[in-house]
Parts: sequence; C-alpha cells; structure tokens
Amino acid sequence: MSPRIFKEGGESKLSFTYIPKRLPHRERQREELLSLLLPVVKSQCRISRAVYLYGPSGSGKTATVKLVLRELRNRYSFLKSIFVNCRFTSTEFSLFQQIAKKLVPSFPTRGYSSLELLVNIYEYITKNDICPIIVLDEFDVFIKRNGVSSLRDLLKIYESTSEGPSITLILITMEPHTSLNALPTIRLKNQFKKYSVEDLYDIVLYRAEESFVEGVLSEELAYLISRLGYKFGYGSARYCIELLQHSGYIALFSGLDSIEYWCVIEAFRRMEPSIELFEPITPPKAIEVLESISMNSTNRNPYVEVKKLLKILPNYDDLLTLLKNMDRSGYVDLMETRGVKYVASLIPPNMLEVLKSGAS
Ligand SMILES: Nc1ncnc2c1ncn2[C@@H]1O[C@H](COP(=O)(O)OP(=O)(O)O)[C@@H](O)[C@H]1O
Ligand SMILES: [Mg+2]
Repeated sequence: MSPRIFKEGGESKLSFTYIPKRLPHRERQREELLSLLLPVVKSQCRISRAVYLYGPSGSGKTATVKLVLRELRNRYSFLKSIFVNCRFTSTEFSLFQQIAKKLVPSFPTRGYSSLELLVNIYEYITKNDICPIIVLDEFDVFIKRNGVSSLRDLLKIYESTSEGPSITLILITMEPHTSLNALPTIRLKNQFKKYSVEDLYDIVLYRAEESFVEGVLSEELAYLISRLGYKFGYGSARYCIELLQHSGYIALFSGLDSIEYWCVIEAFRRMEPSIELFEPITPPKAIEVLESISMNSTNRNPYVEVKKLLKILPNYDDLLTLLKNMDRSGYVDLMETRGVKYVASLIPPNMLEVLKSGAS
C-alpha cells in the first residue's frame, strides 16, 4: 500500500530529535554562529571561545546549534561536539560528570572531586588531541544555582598547560543572564526571538513538505497551525510541529488521505485540554455562530469571511464584538489579512454537539 499521509520515513522527520537541513528564518543566526566557530576549528582548537545565545522556548536555539555543529563535523572530522542538556543538572560535579560520560561513556568519575574530574577530562582531551566544542543547553537553572565559576574553570583549564587544545563553549539559555558578563563570552548579535505567524507559516510548510505526502496539508490548514502556534504556543516552532505530528496521526488513524480541518482542531484540543470554554459568552448565540462557521468552512479551508457570516446572521449587529470575545476565550481564531477579516472555529464538531446539548 502506498503511504497516505506520511512520506516514507516522514514520521521520524517530525520527531524532536530530528534536525532538518534548513531552518527558515534562522539563517542569520546560523551564519553568525558558523563565523564565530570557524576560527576555532581552523586553529585546531588552539583558540577558544564561549558563545552565548538565548531566546524563548521553541525559537530554534537547539536546532540551530546542532545544525551548525553537524555542518562543521562534516567538514572537519577531527571536531568533537559534546552536547549536554543541563535542565536537570544541579551541581558542578554532575555537570562535569555528564561531560566526561559524553566524551567516553566509561569515563571513571566516582571518587573524584569536581575539580579533579575536570583535570581528568582535560588530560584525556590533551592526550587524545581532541578538539572539543561543549554545548551546555538549557543552562538557566544551573547558572542561577551555581553562578559562573564552573564555566570559568572550564575555559581556563588549558591556560595552565602549554600545548593542549582549548575548550570552546556554547551556552544556551532562555533568559539573558547578566552573570555571564563576568566571563569573556561572545553574545550572538542575532539573538533568538519568538517567531511571527509568517515565520511559523514558512516553517510549517517546509516541515510538512518534508514529512507528508504532497497535498496532504492545505495551505489554509498550515496557516491555522501557524496561528495556533503563535497564539497558544507563544511563537514556538515546537508547538507547531507537535500540532503537525498529531494532526497527521489523527488523519492516518482515521483512514483519511489528507489532513482535514477537524484533525487539526482535535490535535489542538488534545494539546490544550484545559482552555476554559463559554465563560464570557452567552451560549446560544455563540453556538449559532460556531455552527454557521462550521457549515461554511471546508475540510481544507477552515476560514470563513466575517462579511459572509454577517449576511448569514443579519440580526447579529454586534457580531464582531462577539467574535472578538470568542477569539479571546479560545473558541475561534479571528484574523485579518489584507484588510479582510476571517474567522475559523476552534471547536471540534463532536464538542459542538456537547455544547449544544448543554445549552438547550
Ligand atoms: N526555523 C526553523 N525551521 C524548521 N524547524 C524549526 C525551526 N526552528 C525550530 N524548529 C523546530 O522546532 C522544534 C523546536 O526547536 P528548538 O531548536 O528545540 O527550540 P529551542 O531550543 O529554542 O527551545 C524543533 O523540532 C526544531 O527542529
Ligand atoms: Mg532547546
């Protein structure tokens, strides 16, 4: 049977460990990072750097760093990148321990003090002439708890010996940390900001193209996913990719040939089960509006022109106000493009039935 929703191997391309070849809207960050690391690599790690980048969750920090390091490793096979996620790393010892284990899984770490461990790591690096770039990702908690002295030790250690390679650090945090100013860190000039709806739209189209059979996701649904990622995921690409993945599976398990509108809404509701419904809205009116929207939208295009709704519901003189309220409380997505207002329902059909029976 030929694949219906996912391309062959397409499912894994939406997994969070997969790093795509391109990162739309992160080209400048990629280039800047490359240009900061190239001198390090070209000197065979005889000069060192500490590069610092930060930005909100899902803004492409980890993906950009991994992409750049992959590119560098492909060109310079002697390079060794050591990637440590520090989210649950609370002590200096466990930080050095993780670095050691990434270097050699059987690295002996027990019974040493953290400084002794660092010395051992460095001896190993020197003896094997390794050119290490150490990435410390999600470093916020560690830095708040421990300050920057461990980093200083990491950066300084080669200065005490004459010939060894130097250690390069890439630090990734969500918030900018002023304590890092005390170190000779280079802040990326192009920092990571939350993506705009348009950025997310390009990302969603690209990731869908990589994963789905052609035509499985309409442009309108890609746009809806971008809007949801912007509004509910605070501009996170991760949020959009999760929506893509869930929508794809829902379509697949329902035996469909393409992703339909309700699959996206269903995926969205699974991710946001706790959005409170019907608080500030009078139910009968809102339900009527939702029904009109769903009757006039299609499987591939969820958006209905507000003007058209006004014609269908002529006695709703305050329709726009109602739609704005419904937008705020997560019932609909109200948006404007080139001066034209559109609205899409965010309520799955079965939920609408439940709401209707509750309201009557
Ligand atoms: N510009 C982009 N283009 C394509 N995919 C992206 C882009 N930015 C982020 N992603 C994807 O979104 C997800 C989250 O990105 P990630 O780099 O982990 O964010 P962060 O580290 O800033 O929290 C990953 O699956 C990543 O591949
Ligand atoms: Mg990350």
